[in-house]
Amino acid sequence: MTTAIVSAMREELAAVLALMPDEHKQTVAGREFFVGHLHGHDVVAVLSRIGKVAAATTASVLIERFAVDRIVFTGVAGGLGAGVNVGDVVVADSFLQHDLDASPIFPKYEVPLYGKSRFATDASLSSQLADAAARALPGVALHRGLVVSGDRFVSTTAESVALQFALPDALAVEMEGAAIAQVCHDYGVAFAAVRTVSDRADDAAHVDFMKFIEEVASRHSAAIVEALLRA
Ligand code: ADE
Repeated sequence: MTTAIVSAMREELAAVLALMPDEHKQTVAGREFFVGHLHGHDVVAVLSRIGKVAAATTASVLIERFAVDRIVFTGVAGGLGAGVNVGDVVVADSFLQHDLDASPIFPKYEVPLYGKSRFATDASLSSQLADAAARALPGVALHRGLVVSGDRFVSTTAESVALQFALPDALAVEMEGAAIAQVCHDYGVAFAAVRTVSDRADDAAHVDFMKFIEEVASRHSAAIVEALLRA
């Protein structure tokens, strides 16, 4: 059983890599894949880079070249749902691409020829991840539900409010999860994702994001991944 641990940015994964002393590096498609072990598990850790295409490429390589059995994404997101605040943790039950719109040929948000807009994460792995997050970060608010992805850093209150109106059950917004969910759906590979809320996707998002990514993101990711693999 090989587990992939994926983050978009170095700041989100640095502390996880520090836990893998025996890793060796393999470069594929311009990305460094760190192959090693964590708490006795075979692990491949990688930085996807930012955005849906980068995430889809990374997921495909993990599955085709590294034959991973499950993919866990860890990183940060902008909070959308009421009460989803900076510092809270969100475990995704499903993903949707908020910037996908092939209407009027297909309904808005629907992925053409899949007949659906929402891609569920693996229920069992997501529950394990949520349990791990609760153990790793006691006292931190934990939310589960829809996370939306798009190739936009949402950094105005106007856009955030529009997203909240259009997708009222969306808890958080980021830029990779829905792409990985679709690739994992195609291959039948288990996927789960955990995101710490770095900002509220509003007019202050870029400032809050930079501060959070430098100070908290890596620590949170490592604590959650450790708790997951130690279980
Ligand atoms: N990741 C973290 N914050 C985000 C935001 N506001 N928009 C998109 N992705 C994010």
